[in-house]
Amino acid sequence: MSGDFADRLLAWFERHGRHDLPWQQPRSAYRVWLSEVMLQQTQVATVRPYFERFVARFPDFASLAQAPADELMRYWAGLGYYARARNLHAAAQAVMSRHGGEFPTEFEAALALPGIGRSTAGAILAQAHGQRQAILDANVKRVLARWAGIAGWPGEAAVAARLWHCAEQLLPTQRLADYSQALMDLGATLCTAGQPRCGDCPLADDCVARREGRVAELPGAKPRPARPRPQREAWLILAEDEQGRWLLEQRPGAGIWGGLWCPPLIDREQDWAGALRERHGLQLSGAQPDAPIAHAFSHYDLRLYPLRGPAQLLATGLREAGTSRWYSPAALRAGELGLPAPVARYVERLAPAADLPGTAAVARVRRPRRPAAKAKPESVP
Ligand code: ADE
Repeated sequence: MSGDFADRLLAWFERHGRHDLPWQQPRSAYRVWLSEVMLQQTQVATVRPYFERFVARFPDFASLAQAPADELMRYWAGLGYYARARNLHAAAQAVMSRHGGEFPTEFEAALALPGIGRSTAGAILAQAHGQRQAILDANVKRVLARWAGIAGWPGEAAVAARLWHCAEQLLPTQRLADYSQALMDLGATLCTAGQPRCGDCPLADDCVARREGRVAELPGAKPRPARPRPQREAWLILAEDEQGRWLLEQRPGAGIWGGLWCPPLIDREQDWAGALRERHGLQLSGAQPDAPIAHAFSHYDLRLYPLRGPAQLLATGLREAGTSRWYSPAALRAGELGLPAPVARYVERLAPAADLPGTAAVARVRRPRRPAAKAKPESVP
């Protein structure tokens, strides 16, 4: 497979690859090294003018090694990631002192220079000396993860190891400079993160991601630590009058379940008895808790804590104000009102159809047998 892969890539490179990059002609180890360091975190279009100015002022390792650090930084200013410039200076000095002014041709020696990682060392040796070295920058990771169907986040050691293995397996025996440039160009221009142009890709025929419809999901994203969903809690007050009816209020338009009818919902941090007194002029003589009801909204989980008990009207009188009423379980079961789904299920369990029409005393009302069923999250307004 590897020969075929490289042949197709190189044929594509002939016609569509980048051949006019300033570090390609004239090609020297110095110019390739400099360009690869500049390109580590910066795009080609940005690097071009910086590269031209830089090599005009510092044409070789000697001039760069001798330059005052301040001047070097002036030529780097605007490219960002300034540790690269400091490493560049130190590496130029190391090339002068350790390697007689020539960029080392041994992989380990190149890797030992400041600011040069495994992929950069491979790219420099492949491009400057035609060595059979693999590269694996972000663009190449994307190409190989897709073509070979290597799942997982490349920042993970096991995934990176598979990608490196793949990169090495695919290396051709000739034209290594063009081959590594071709892989980077394909990743930068066709096999892009956002809008890959698979229709134009020379590797599409046997690309695993393409065949399996996984182009968008490869390479895998960095796993995010699961953020706990926000939780909200509320009391659900089932106040029952002497006829066995329940008090329901119409939810305000803004907020959850706007316009639906619901027994009073009171934030769990609030004093529910006080809120019931103030909002409705009622109190419960005895409150029986039922099993909590879980409900998922799109952005948070709600947990309702039902409390049931006989309601007593206070001297202030019931404040109906048009938005709260007494309803019999029969009326609720008959669907006279729009109830929130988890509340409707709860009502159904408290007052099953078989009991109707009834005025079940609170003492006779059964406890819910099972917690509310898990449903798909409901979207919040
Ligand atoms: N990114 C890193 N090295 C590159 C190169 N030689 N050409 C284009 N983009 C690159």
